[in-house]
Amino acid sequence: MRDSFGSKIGLVLATAGSAVGLGNVWRFPFMAGQNGGAAFIIIYIFFIVILGVPGMVSEFIVGRHAGTNAARAYSRLSTGRQWKHVGVMGIVTSTIILGFYAVVAGWCLNYLFVSIGGDIGGDASSVRQYFVQFSSSPVSPVLWGLTFIVLTHLVIVRGIRSGIEKFSKLMMPTMFVLLIVLVVASCMLPGSMKGVTFLLNPNFSKVDGHVFLAALGQAFFSLSLGTACLCTYSSYFSRSTNLVRSAVQIAFIDTLVAILAGLMIFPAAFSVGINPDSGPSLIFITLPCVFHEAFAGMPVLGYVTSILFYALLSLAALTSTISMHEIGTAFFHEELNKSRKTAACYVSALAAVICIVSSFSVGYMPGLQLFGMSMMDCFDKLTAQLLLPLGGFLTCIYIGWFASFPRVYEEFTNDSTVNRSLFRVYLFLVRYVCPTFILAIFLDQFGLL
Ligand code: TRP
Repeated sequence: MRDSFGSKIGLVLATAGSAVGLGNVWRFPFMAGQNGGAAFIIIYIFFIVILGVPGMVSEFIVGRHAGTNAARAYSRLSTGRQWKHVGVMGIVTSTIILGFYAVVAGWCLNYLFVSIGGDIGGDASSVRQYFVQFSSSPVSPVLWGLTFIVLTHLVIVRGIRSGIEKFSKLMMPTMFVLLIVLVVASCMLPGSMKGVTFLLNPNFSKVDGHVFLAALGQAFFSLSLGTACLCTYSSYFSRSTNLVRSAVQIAFIDTLVAILAGLMIFPAAFSVGINPDSGPSLIFITLPCVFHEAFAGMPVLGYVTSILFYALLSLAALTSTISMHEIGTAFFHEELNKSRKTAACYVSALAAVICIVSSFSVGYMPGLQLFGMSMMDCFDKLTAQLLLPLGGFLTCIYIGWFASFPRVYEEFTNDSTVNRSLFRVYLFLVRYVCPTFILAIFLDQFGLL
């Protein structure tokens, strides 16, 4: 029999584990920092509600109805075989993401170990020098990235219930406790209130088309939307799972964690007078300085905070890489009739290649570029700003216009038992609102609007 999640709380935590990741703790704060703080957050939350939740429900419907891997799932709700390609595209996208995500996750793991050794910290220039030296060495960052892929692999081969679910049930609450401890510590620092104001006081003067696209990409990335990830997880849901309620719960947890992550990072950064818009290096260069300076009189506290922080990042990253890995693993396992172990090896090997290329492109071999960007940036932009919105767009079109209407209704309402009154609203959103928004933001990006 096909594996499945064993409990409601297990499936919500596992799926929230997929959603909550470096996207929340690393990407969200620096995106908010670069795009106007609170104004970005308001646009972001609007997208989560109006596009994210309906998008999640759509993927859930496709996946649970089919009870199989993404490629086959997309051909189960209509007669058109070509929709299968949306699933295949999701599998490719998520494997690419797994590859470059593992690079950053590997950095976190390295920083965790270095923090334990007490070797991180110091003034800004020494921390920067450490980061540059580490990330451009030929071996070390690659090895940490690959270690991360191996860790992911080890959870995946244990299956859904005793691998993914068990692990998430343990890790998600741990992560949440770590996060709260760090938010409290950060907000207690002198001068930290400026950071809170930055997060809560909107400045709309920075908002332009680009900010909308960035917020859209971030919303999709953070909810793990548009790559058939949610569709794969929902194929392990039970018939009685309330899809709408689960989507709302997961979106809520995800947004809460992102905002808490902002409340952890900005107050600390402002308290030592560091600019919030320092970009992707925020957590690897800015924060070690913050830990060092903010806790100057209390080195033990600085030491512990630094360990807790990188442990938090590594855990959040791991529950996400697991979900990216599962998409490809389920596909190879079921479509090529390979054992789960062999299927997982294929995915790990593909991700490893992308991880090595990405890692080299931002360090050891800066010449590894495409369109004037490092390969790492290329992979990030290609997925977050192109493939994810495209996957989401096609999923909405599929569900709204091509899928069998009675089947969609059955899944949405659990055979007419729940959420019946919401169905019309949902249908309106996936038919008209979501595709229009995604398309408009997309065209705007290419200057076509
Ligand atoms: N949502 C995760 C994060 O915020 C990343 C992630 C996990 C993801 N699975 C995904 C992104 C699938 C896109 C597609 O870090």
